[in-house]
Amino acid sequence: MKQAEPPRRGSGHSPTDPGLLRSPLDFISEDHLRERQICAAIDELAIAAPFDRQTALVVLRFLNEELNVHLRDETEDLFPLLAQRCTAEDSIESAITRIRIDHDEAMRLLPEVRATLASCLDTGCDLSCEDSGLLIRFAGHVRRRLVAENAILLPIARARLTRADLRKLSQNMRSRRGVPPFLETTNVE
Ligand SMILES: [Fe+2]
Repeated sequence: MKQAEPPRRGSGHSPTDPGLLRSPLDFISEDHLRERQICAAIDELAIAAPFDRQTALVVLRFLNEELNVHLRDETEDLFPLLAQRCTAEDSIESAITRIRIDHDEAMRLLPEVRATLASCLDTGCDLSCEDSGLLIRFAGHVRRRLVAENAILLPIARARLTRADLRKLSQNMRSRRGVPPFLETTNVE
């Protein structure tokens, strides 16, 4: 019988391998690598002349298909688990509050970013200076959020979440993506 391929790690140039959902914090970490690549692509797009249609399509696809699912993993599952498990000395509430500020600002800009990219793809027009500024501001907020998550939240999550928490996180992330349960669920993290 053919052995299952081990999950792919590392480049951030394609959507995160669902095989990593077995280890949900590693999956989130890989999603952050992916987000970082997309932020770099947005920055390049903002200064590209003429408009880089190929990069715009990659970014738009990420914004439409991947970003919202990742954010739901965190806001609906990871953050509540952290709030439950962390102690006062972890200062998790203030970290989450800071992260939410960048999150809210990125979400406020998101519809305009989508509309701007879709419009340039439809019309073949280049980005205006205002459009470029919008893209750079959006990427800045997304990047700040993921840097704080990598530096503060993920290390605390690795230290504090129990095996049962990780199983629950893995299950919820899989069902959010329509991925069937793994046969062995005791091996999470
Ligand atoms: Fe994140």
